[in-house]
Amino acid sequence: MGRAFTYVILGGGVAAGYAALEFVRRRGDASPGELCIISDEAVAPYERPALSKGYLLPEVAGGARLPAFHTCVGANDQLLTESWYKEHGIELILGTKVISADVLRKALLTSTGETISYKTLIVATGARALMLEEFGGNGSDAENVCYLRNIVDADKLVHVMRSSPGGNAIVIGGGYIGMECAAALVANKIKVTIVFPGKHCMDRLFTPKIAEFYENYYTSKGVTFIKGTAVSSLEISSGKVTTAILRDGRRLPADMVVVGIGARANTTLFDGQLAMDKGGIKVNGQMQTSDATVYAVGDVATFPVKLLGGDARRFEHVDCTRRTARHAVAAALNPSSAGDIDYLPFFYSRVFALSWRFYGDNAGEAVHFGDMSLSASSAKFGAFWVSAGRIAGAFLEGGSTEEYEAIAHAVRRGVAVPDMAQLAREGLAFVVRE
Ligand code: FDA
Ligand code: NAD
Repeated sequence: MGRAFTYVILGGGVAAGYAALEFVRRRGDASPGELCIISDEAVAPYERPALSKGYLLPEVAGGARLPAFHTCVGANDQLLTESWYKEHGIELILGTKVISADVLRKALLTSTGETISYKTLIVATGARALMLEEFGGNGSDAENVCYLRNIVDADKLVHVMRSSPGGNAIVIGGGYIGMECAAALVANKIKVTIVFPGKHCMDRLFTPKIAEFYENYYTSKGVTFIKGTAVSSLEISSGKVTTAILRDGRRLPADMVVVGIGARANTTLFDGQLAMDKGGIKVNGQMQTSDATVYAVGDVATFPVKLLGGDARRFEHVDCTRRTARHAVAAALNPSSAGDIDYLPFFYSRVFALSWRFYGDNAGEAVHFGDMSLSASSAKFGAFWVSAGRIAGAFLEGGSTEEYEAIAHAVRRGVAVPDMAQLAREGLAFVVRE
């Protein structure tokens, strides 16, 4: 059993949706056998960030549900429902896992036993959540232990949350998932304790000072932080976790557990077939892998970032996913005119009434600005990272559109900082001139 397509997008997440729209914009509707998307998820591509935000809100607050957040609404663009793909000639092969790939033969084998061959492949397999068991822990199968990567996970989390009103949640991990889920749990009136081994939350990005603000804010909402240790095991009774046991022996009662201890790019189908770098599939500025007929985009791709002197980076963020997906399609359809991607790294998060953005690279010396006290009616503060005398990265909480644009622009231009004291004194005004 087999089918052949000119273009195959492997994976049906954020990258796939944006790649499909870009394809139609550049080429028009696909003709039969021209383009398919293969996804092991049961639904058409959607904006994954919604899962840790609107999707988890209490019903009274009108939690977001499909079809409202299919791609590409996250970029204020068209809403691509399942019927959109059909109308544009794109075959959506859902609920189908690719179990092996043969790059030399240009063929993919699916869980249904079908072989799908391609002329050009776009790998958009994203990442998976790391499991407790990979760190010597236990309990992932318990009825009240939740991970959050896809809509099935999100449905479980919503169900468990609604079955534990007023209960205790242990959140394992103080990164993006831990912090965003903790805020959602509080909104659902669940008592939250966050446990992680680091010194402060979001330690891959935040400075200790920035983290202190968010930790204080969460504490004011009733959240407890237990830092510098880990959950060593989960005690389970009748299929449910009842207690989380910490390394130091402390026992925390638990009605539910949310795990966010990092992600790993889904590269294994291509191990030994494509060059890898920094945990992802290595690509050039056109998002092309070591095999010219295969492109990689989104969380799975490690690509050269011009702004960082061509340093190869892999990001696990949605803006990067959208842009790399569009770029790969442009390059695959017209290699001579696409040029190399010129990406300005951009991450963001929204929790409670807070909202921040970060641009660039958090390398060099951090200079903080603004009022970081909780008493301010609405927080506005941030930091610039200065490397080799220039602004390399910028973080801003509570900014306006113009202010976010200004910090992005300053990072993009690498604004010179001759005097660190002046930057510290002027803060945002250093880059936002009247
Ligand atoms: P993505 O994971 O979206 O899609 C991969 C797809 O491939 C999935 O459909 C998967 O099932 C499928 N797949 C994998 N292997 C397969 C196989 N062998 N066969 C078939 N299908 C296969 N970022 C941000 O900037 N701001 C934010 O607020 C958030 N919020 C956020 C919340 C949550 C809960 C998560 C999990 C992640 C975020 N992110 C984020 C990160 C962002 O969502 C992420 O960077 C993108 O989803 C990556 O898009 P991809 O298409 O690369 O992978
Ligand atoms: P993360 O890397 O952001 O955070 C992992 C956290 O787990 C860190 O705090 C780390 O100290 C902690 N940790 C590591 N090992 C641990 C252990 N054994 N026990 C306890 N804690 C441990 O990863 P995440 O929060 O799981 O997010 C997963 C993916 O989803 C990432 O790709 C992330 O970028 C993405 N995501 C992004 C956003 C956003 O951009 N706003 C939101 C949600 C998710």
